[in-house]
Amino acid sequence: MTKEARNERYPRLFSPLHIGNVVVPNRFVVPAVTTNFAEKNGDAGERLINYLAARAEGGFGLVITENLGVHETGRVMPRMGMADCDERIPQLRKLAQAVKRHGAVLFGQISHAGRQTRSRITGHPLLAPSPIPCPLNREMPLELSVGQIGELVEAFAAAAMRLKIAGFDGVEIHGAHGYLVAAFLSPNTNKRSDAYGGPLENRMRFVLEIISQIRERCGAGFPISVRISAEEFVADGLQIEESCRIAKALEAAGVHTVSVSVGVYESFNSLSMITGEQEGRWLHLAQAVRNSVSIPVMGVGRLKRAEVAEKALANGQIDLAAFGRASVADPALPAKARDGIEDQTITCIGCNICLGRSARPETICPVNPAVGDEARFHIAGSTTPVTVLIEGASIASLTAAWLAAMRGHQVFVDTGSEPIGGMQTWRARVPGMHEYGEMVAAVLGRAVRAGAKVGSRPPRWDMRWRERRALAISNDVFEIRPDAVTTADILARDEIGEDGREAVVCGSDIAATEAAIRLAAGGRKTTILTQMRDVAHDAHPGYREVSRKRLAALGVEVVTRAENWRDLLKGFAPQALVVVGELAPSNETSYAYPHGVIEEADSGWIDDAYEAGAMTAGIYNTANTFLALP
Ligand SMILES: Cc1cc2nc3c(=O)[nH]c(=O)nc-3n(C[C@H](O)[C@H](O)[C@H](O)COP(=O)(O)O)c2cc1C
Ligand code: SF4
Repeated sequence: MTKEARNERYPRLFSPLHIGNVVVPNRFVVPAVTTNFAEKNGDAGERLINYLAARAEGGFGLVITENLGVHETGRVMPRMGMADCDERIPQLRKLAQAVKRHGAVLFGQISHAGRQTRSRITGHPLLAPSPIPCPLNREMPLELSVGQIGELVEAFAAAAMRLKIAGFDGVEIHGAHGYLVAAFLSPNTNKRSDAYGGPLENRMRFVLEIISQIRERCGAGFPISVRISAEEFVADGLQIEESCRIAKALEAAGVHTVSVSVGVYESFNSLSMITGEQEGRWLHLAQAVRNSVSIPVMGVGRLKRAEVAEKALANGQIDLAAFGRASVADPALPAKARDGIEDQTITCIGCNICLGRSARPETICPVNPAVGDEARFHIAGSTTPVTVLIEGASIASLTAAWLAAMRGHQVFVDTGSEPIGGMQTWRARVPGMHEYGEMVAAVLGRAVRAGAKVGSRPPRWDMRWRERRALAISNDVFEIRPDAVTTADILARDEIGEDGREAVVCGSDIAATEAAIRLAAGGRKTTILTQMRDVAHDAHPGYREVSRKRLAALGVEVVTRAENWRDLLKGFAPQALVVVGELAPSNETSYAYPHGVIEEADSGWIDDAYEAGAMTAGIYNTANTFLALP
């Protein structure tokens, strides 16, 4: 998509924009998304290159790399891309060529994590403006001396120059999310009393020195973007009024565009918002910044659809629309909008599995198992096509059907009596989780377009794959309440119904937590009893926080660490509806759905799961199996 024909539906999104001395062909931006796809030594290797090139090929006009470390003391992930020495240039050049080949403009985000990393990752003591530990990492950083500040200014400028030499079109200074540059800007983390602390002019000194050095080395026309967190959502953190002043000062210093994000590690759920949050929720902040400057402004935050971004452009809220996780989920989002086939977009569900995993082995995504594995997903046709029967239509089964059909096999999906989407269709009925329904529709469409026949069964087959599913339940509850029902009994219902009985949910796994949400949303007085210390105990911390809020909003009483749950349960009226989930993983639990027996003629199981991480594991196992079929 090198030349943009005028697009009637999205004229603004598909119009070019000048940033410094480059022209971005359209307004679709891949913002920095850390993947852990770089090589162990910090070089940009094939995986990172293929990952970013796929987004450029998919039509994004501006691709910004994940944050690239400018100095080893600021490394944030074990396999983070680095721009800290000249030896990186050849690989960075390959990256630039691969992305630009598709007509996209490429910026490299340059960054130092400051206190928001761990010394076991950097191999050095952590560094920050002031010795205040990050409340999440809880490691005390050293206060930077003025001499060290100068060295890091130099490191940022040198990294920018390396990117320029490698053929990048511009750089983005990571001045958001509590990383080092942001830590200087924010009164929450900068308590210095020298020329780098105190009033805003002083807190800005570090970033302004970086900008000045980059301009000196790379030239005034070389595009510089600065990403800021316009609201940090922490005590004494940056707020929009001050952020607008920052943006003005950045413009005056020669910056060419400002990217408006939010949050720090402590307020992470605002930064990468979870399922159910409003699309474009922070666009008003971008607009406030845009009203203060005359350079282009980029907005971000749960953007998924071209329609929403086009409207934001038309309303003057933003000049560029950054699609973070949406670009992980579907690298071809802009091309599909351009070609009028956006109903084929695989939408991000906000599960944040990518986020949890980027700190661990690497980014994974349930709706796009090709992420970081783009080369393997250039699928070759099978030399021995066969007839494949899949019994079950969970996301894993539909992924299997898609891959097998892409390889040229004849694929039939017998959905049986279960809903298409399996347990994710149950989840889609939970208030706040409707995006899971969009995922079901998207992966179903993907399988059908590839040629899978969903809802039918062949007279004979060469391979039969069967689906199994499980939800943990603590059997002890039945000793006290033999009439109890399982979480699956509740979650599988289309409608919960209200008969005036109060509900007691024994368990706090995500299925139990969401069963409680459904019961309470249906109007029942609901209590959760659990031996664990929190709800959604099998989900990641971000989900736990959101689940707590949802339960509180519905007035659900949550009794945690309830070692005496038996006594408490006996205290409820005999007519109370008792629901059994997982009281604690260490409890004796069994599964609401028996695993069944695989028959000799079967090829294997496909695993459906409720919790997003477990679901993703099932999808990846299945994808691996189906890609390896002859
Ligand atoms: C896995 C992951 C890694 C991220 N890494 C970075 C990063 O390196 N630099 C950065 O500025 N933002 C990073 N972000 C934030 C995103 O760029 C984006 O601002 C955020 O996810 C909100 O946008 P979205 O709702 O479109 O995903 C990351 C987000 C995710 C989910
Ligand atoms: S892992 Fe989840 S949040 Fe991340 S891109 Fe994929 S669907 Fe979106």
